[in-house]
Order: sequence, then C-alpha cells, then structure tokens
Amino acid sequence: MAGDTPTHARPVIELHGVTKGFQSGDQWVSVLKGVEFQAMDGTLTMIVGPSGCGKTTLLSIIAGTLHPDAGHVRVFGREVEQLDAHQLNSFRARDVGFVFQQFHLISTLTVQENVMIPKLIQGASEAEAAKAASDVLDQVGLSHMLKRRPNQLSGGEQQRVAIARGLVHQPRVLICDEPTSALDGETGKKIVQLIIDIARRPGRCLVIVTHDTRIYHYADMIAQMEDGMIKTMQIPDKLEWH
Ligand SMILES: Nc1ncnc2c1ncn2[C@@H]1O[C@H](COP(=O)(O)OP(=O)(O)OP(=O)(O)O)[C@@H](O)[C@H]1O
Ligand SMILES: [Mg+2]
Repeated sequence: MAGDTPTHARPVIELHGVTKGFQSGDQWVSVLKGVEFQAMDGTLTMIVGPSGCGKTTLLSIIAGTLHPDAGHVRVFGREVEQLDAHQLNSFRARDVGFVFQQFHLISTLTVQENVMIPKLIQGASEAEAAKAASDVLDQVGLSHMLKRRPNQLSGGEQQRVAIARGLVHQPRVLICDEPTSALDGETGKKIVQLIIDIARRPGRCLVIVTHDTRIYHYADMIAQMEDGMIKTMQIPDKLEWH
C-alpha cells in the first residue's frame, strides 16, 4: 500500500502542540501532552499505542467533538478552533465520518435507520438516505438485517453497522476507532478493504486507531503513540517490529 502513496500529498490533518487534560475528582489528569501529528491527502494513517495513551481523545479532537486545551488543529487548511458553531456543525456533518470504539448505535432505531442518520443530517431526503444506507449495508454484508434493532445483532454485526454509518455520507475525513476489534480475521480484512476503497482516495483522508496487527500492512503511515504523545511516524515496511 505504501508504494502507491501520492508523491505530492499535502497534509489534510495537522496537529501542533495539542494538549488536553481532564479533571478527575480532585486531580487534574494530563492526557495529551503536546501532540504533533499529520495525515496526508489520499492516505491511510494508523495510530497505534497502549490502552489509555490518549488515542480516542486525539481522534475526538480531530473530529471537533472535543476541544484541546492548547495547540493547533487544522483540517483541510482550516483551524478547527476558529470555526463558529454553525461552521463546526457543518464540518462534523459533512466532512467527518466517525466510527466509534463503542459503536454508539441508537437502540430504538433499526439498523437501516441508524445508518441513514448522517445522510439525513446532510439534508438528503428519507428515500435517498434509505437507499444509501441499504447500499452500504449491503457492502458490509448486512443487507438481510436492515429492519433489526442493534440489540438483536452480534457484536461484530453491530460493529459493521457502525462502520456503514461512518461511510454512508462518503465523508472527506474518516476516523475509525478500533474498527475491527469485534470482527474475526477474515471479516476484519474485508471490512478494512472496504473502508480503504471508499475512504482512501485523493481529496480524502483516512485515520484508523487499531491494536490489530493483522491490518498494519494496509497503512501508508503508522503513528506510534505513547503517554499522550506521538513518538514516531513511520511507513510500515520500515517498522522493526512489523
Ligand atoms: N472525560 C474524561 N475524564 C477523565 N479522564 C478521561 C476522560 N476521557 C479520557 N480520560 C482518560 O484519559 C486517558 C486516555 O483515554 P483514551 O480513551 O484517549 O485512551 P485510548 O488510548 O483510546 O485507550 P484504549 O486503547 O483503551 O481505547 C485514560 O487514562 C482515560 O481514563
Ligand atoms: Mg480508545
């Protein structure tokens, strides 16, 4: 994969000096400690690192759902912090797709209705959204489960619904937090290939957090995170531990 990385790629996502902490009881917990990160146009960047090092926090900041305490976050050349409420809503609705680690499916809605949400937020008609949702659910192998509710699905099926919801509006930036954690090896590979087909192309950018060593070789770049910082960014062929 690394071999066909565009040679004139420009950064789509840029983070400089990003810090973030949380108040936990009477303690201040410093989670991100000056993150330097970038992801290039048309590429797949994977973020790897031990549990608790700040990966999900970092993704939430890129997606504009969490505000950094300090530092700069630029996506497509625009400073996310400087967007007003309206621009930020539009950025999240149109430009970003997020596949959550905990799926976050809405239990009272059917599978198809869950996947329709990003299209409806973008202003698509119900019929358009229903069609787009059933197409992408077909691609993740769930066309026979459109009318089920999330609690009637296995963990891996729920994960595929979450992935379909992240892909359905074809966002320019797709951010996936452990997208294969509940999938068997074969299904995991197929799903990553599907994500790549849809989201790794010019004008788009794909970032995946994963512990799944079976999919590392799909990455154009691997960012190793440790204790709230990106320690290295390397192309996978050059990784000593690969
Ligand atoms: N809202 C919060 N309040 C207090 N602490 C938080 C909050 N969110 C995250 N943390 C802490 O920040 C640290 C990093 O959390 P984060 O979810 O980003 O880790 P992670 O790298 O995604 O871990 P994992 O691989 O287990 O998903 C953890 O120690 C977590 O407890
Ligand atoms: Mg996490």
